[in-house]
Amino acid sequence: MPSPSPLKERGTEGVRLNKYSYQPVEWLGDRIRLLDQTRLPGEEVYLDIADYRELASAIQELKVRGAPAIGVAGGYGVALGALSIESNSGNEFIQKLQAVVDTLKNARPTARNLPRAVERMERVANEAVAAGKSVEQIKAILVEEAENIHAWEVEATEKISRLGAELIQSGFTVLTHCNTGPLATTGYGTALGVIIYAHEQGKEIKVFADETRRLLQGARLTTWELQKVGIPVTLITDSMAGYFMGRGKVDCVIVGADRIAANGDTANKIGTYTLAVLAKEHGIPFYVAAPTTTIDATLVTGEDIPIEERRPDEVTGFRGVRTAPEDCEAANPSFDVTPHGYITAIITERGIIREPYEQGIGEVV
Ligand code: MRU
Repeated sequence: MPSPSPLKERGTEGVRLNKYSYQPVEWLGDRIRLLDQTRLPGEEVYLDIADYRELASAIQELKVRGAPAIGVAGGYGVALGALSIESNSGNEFIQKLQAVVDTLKNARPTARNLPRAVERMERVANEAVAAGKSVEQIKAILVEEAENIHAWEVEATEKISRLGAELIQSGFTVLTHCNTGPLATTGYGTALGVIIYAHEQGKEIKVFADETRRLLQGARLTTWELQKVGIPVTLITDSMAGYFMGRGKVDCVIVGADRIAANGDTANKIGTYTLAVLAKEHGIPFYVAAPTTTIDATLVTGEDIPIEERRPDEVTGFRGVRTAPEDCEAANPSFDVTPHGYITAIITERGIIREPYEQGIGEVV
């Protein structure tokens, strides 16, 4: 792997974290440290969270966000909740853990990674009780499992980035949406990881970053992360994508995913579907990059993916400043579903999948 530029080797509590100088999620033994993504890029503020309910609120408020990152945070959240349970009985411990599991699993509905990580923690707890472990042992097992989830995501995103970089040629201008870098994944990144990896291979890459209304993950976070690694980035509003595609300025589009159905239909940040349709119209490849933990093979198509509907005041204003008239109604779906027919390929850590997606997805999960 090429040597990454502004990266820093770190490791706390036994997990090999991503190599960047900032960590979106860290386990500190008895609490979770989050880089508050709502305050970036203006302020780099870390929050120490010692209560799983506080973590659920932080996930809802997007202090930690991005499908893989909320999965990692959710795993640590279960460990945190488990550590606070006072009981010597395995069965009572499991009963009390249920409240932790339910609170975290439902903190955000669309990304598959969060419930998957929480369910994995729940399964491990049940197995440990069935194996006759003491409550103290179960707590230690849960902390270790959360660290495993974290380490797995870091490794998976590195593989995705390496595999996906094969699709990016030197000289490409790549358009991306939302934020899919280390901040969103705790690891290398998915779509942004592919771009960063291609850059580290010495390819000349330029990026158009969609601002990504409403909460501006593209404008605030993607540009910040790209500047840190020295990749030229031009910020555009979401509605400018067609303009630049029509003028031949975009060589490919690459986005992340929050949940992928068995047929390849993909939920991602609102606006992704529009980009995919535009890309197809202009004959531009449209790639999705995501770990297999984002795939939900129990859903036959994307129709059943739950779409998070957020507060209308996120649309009628920004950071407390109202932009729409009082009493103006606003809709606020946070994600949309791109039908698989618009997707050129899905890049996972287990390989690059193309049509027929049912088959390729069946093989990787
Ligand atoms: O609402 P967010 O900021 O959590 O939405 C994030 C996205 O839509 C990302 O594109 C997706 O989670 C993939 S992150 C690698």
